[in-house]
Order: sequence, then C-alpha cells, then structure tokens
Amino acid sequence: MASSSTPSRAQELSPLLPGGYTRGSLVVGTHSPQAAKGHGCYVIDGDGRELIDLNNDFTSLVHGNAHPAIVEVSRAAIEDGSAFGLPTHWEHEHAQILVDRIPGAEQVRYTCSGTEAVMTAVRIARAVTGRSGVVALRDAYHGYSDSVIGTAGPKSRRGVPVGLLDELILVDVNDIAALEAAVSERPEGLAAILVDAMPNRAGMIAVTPEFLQRVRELCDEHGILFIDDEVINLRQGLHGVAAERGVLPDIVVTGKIIGGGYPAGAVLSSREIMAQFDPERSDPLEQGGTFAANPLMLRAGAEALRLFDREAIARLNALGEQARSSLAEGVERLGWTVRGEGSLFRPIPPDDLTGPVTRRLFWAAHERGVSITPTAMCALSTPMDADVVGRAVEGLVDAIESVSKPV
Ligand SMILES: Cc1ncc(COP(=O)(O)O)c(C=O)c1O
Repeated sequence: MASSSTPSRAQELSPLLPGGYTRGSLVVGTHSPQAAKGHGCYVIDGDGRELIDLNNDFTSLVHGNAHPAIVEVSRAAIEDGSAFGLPTHWEHEHAQILVDRIPGAEQVRYTCSGTEAVMTAVRIARAVTGRSGVVALRDAYHGYSDSVIGTAGPKSRRGVPVGLLDELILVDVNDIAALEAAVSERPEGLAAILVDAMPNRAGMIAVTPEFLQRVRELCDEHGILFIDDEVINLRQGLHGVAAERGVLPDIVVTGKIIGGGYPAGAVLSSREIMAQFDPERSDPLEQGGTFAANPLMLRAGAEALRLFDREAIARLNALGEQARSSLAEGVERLGWTVRGEGSLFRPIPPDDLTGPVTRRLFWAAHERGVSITPTAMCALSTPMDADVVGRAVEGLVDAIESVSKPV
C-alpha cells in the first residue's frame, strides 16, 4: 500500500512550478500521479494505468473524458476559429439553454471560471445595493478572488486586504440563528448573502430548505441580494439546487459543467439586475475577459448541457444513490460516514474532515485503480454504469479499510 511519504505510483513534479503544482487544490504531497489522457469514465496515469475517474476535474466533467459528441463539436469549433473579438451566435445559443434551466434568470454574462463569476456577482450586488458586506457560509469555497477567498478559512486570507476581509461575515452551515444575528447586526451594510447549497470544503453538508428560505426572507426584508453559487451544484438538478429546493435566488453563479470541459463561468439574473452592465448607462459595470464566452467553450458546453437533460440527471443521481448507500454499508463499521447528494459523494473519516487520513486515502484509492480528489469529494459521470460504480466503491471501501488501520 502506498503512504503519503512513499507513493509507489507517482511521477516527478516539475521544478518549474511552485511545489510542483499549478493548482493548490491538486496537492497530495511532494509527488503526484499525473494524467496522461482520459476516455469515458477512465483516466490513464503516467504509468499507463487505467483508473476509474471519480475526480472528473473536480466535478466539471459530467460526461467523463473525451465524450465523442463533445469531441466532435470541439473539433468543429477549433476548425472554425476558437476565439474572436466579436460577438457570436453561439453566445445566444448557450445562454438560451442556461436561462431555460435557471428559474428567474433572463440574462447571462460569461467568464472563464467560477472564481470570476462569483467575483462578478458580488460586484453586481454591491453596485445594485450601494453596500459592501457579504454574509457567507464558513469554510465554503467560492473561488480565489480577493472578494470571497476569506470564506475558505484563516489559511486562505494571506495577501487579502483587511478591509475586504472585514466585509465578509461568516456563519455555520444551517445555523439560522447565526444567520439572523449576522443580518441584524448591519442590515443596512449588507450587499449579499452568498450560499452554496452543498459546500464541499465545509464538509459537504446539504444546506436545508429552511435555511435557504430564511436567506430569501432576510434578503427580501432588508434589500439584500441572494447569490446562489451553483458552480458545482448545477450537475445536481436541472434548475440548480436552490430552485429545486423551492427557493429563488436573485443572482445565480455557475461554471464547471457548463463548459463541456473548457474554462467557463456564468452569472445569471433578471434583466433589471443585469442592467448594471447596460452599455447605455453612463457608468456600466466593467467586465471583460479576452477568452470569456469563447466559441469552443460555448459549443462544447451547449452540447454537454443538451446531453445532460432531465433524464440523464435522474440516471446519474440514481447511480449516486447506489454509490452512497453501498459505500456507507462498507465503511460505517470503520466509523466513516458518507455525505453527498445527487451525483456527488464524499467519505468522511471518524474524527476529521480532511488532513493526513484523507491524503492517505487519495493514495490508497489510486493504488486500487480509483482516482478521487484530495478532499475525497467524488463525482460520477454519465459514461458510468452500475458495474463501474460498484467497482469504484469496492476499491474505495478497500482503500478506506487500509487507511483506517494504525500506520
Ligand atoms: C462552489 C464553488 N464556487 C466557485 C468555485 C470556483 O470555480 P473555478 O475553479 O472555476 O474558478 C468553485 C471551484 O471549485 C466551487 O466549488
């Protein structure tokens, strides 16, 4: 079995990258498996081993790797020219799919990432309300912009001006009393309440409909905007998780699956709110992005969304149910629990959320042919079937058993 200090299946990391990585979220030690290529629900590592891909680029590859229909559309997009300094009709086509899915959304602005989309949504809320405070969930991750990185815990705050950090008020997931207290402390100073309805970094605990409803009421009472972060969650339901739970936000932010595997983010809202960008105004909000809404992302993303219809979502969520229940059955005796909803799940160790045991689990799973994220968040993809899910769970149970033994 591999341990974090002596991984047997690891490639050298590049000394040209700090710590060997380009993304902090990928870190699993001084060595890491590398991805050489992928097909369907498998990723091939640098040793040529085929692994079941439960990482799916941190949930974004809802159709797995190199889905034939998406490859075909992407190839056509590249051949037609992949970036222009002019609007394209692909923007309209993709935006139509999004506004058809997200209740209350009438217009869209695209970005190249979820980070930029959340940052933009917060700026819109501040512009609309003329206020600056943002209430958010403690330990939730909303990307690494200065405006919201402070939600992700004390370690994330270095380099961010204190003034910006002071604008963030954090409450625990589902703590309605704390939410009410945070709002009542400075109702006239709050621009937004920002919620991800199942924040992974905060432990993948589902936010209750009651909490979401209270957010809605407090926003209505005090003229605050409700920003719903569906960057991950749009894979969970056709309309996004908040709307599926019966609550309509003011601004929806999304990303990941909407890009078909290419960099993407989007901010959606009513015409009235999106009028902040209206070029006819004397002071429209600034928003650019050389590669925002590039046709490669739009065409691949539109195809990915078309393929991920109500039926496909229901099928994938049923596989998620299978994964969660069989994983729970296998690991509860070891004191582990399983959280998640829809096509996402995460095994939680007996006494901590992440840390050394989760990292050891990453390596143990890799040894057993299963690729997961370093926080052990797992995401299914549509090429999977019950057999693949069964094999992945078997590998995970065995991996969890191995890391549960004293080292
Ligand atoms: C809920 C949530 N919001 C925002 C982001 C940032 O998105 P991106 O990584 O595309 O910048 C993430 C990334 O994982 C996320 O999980």
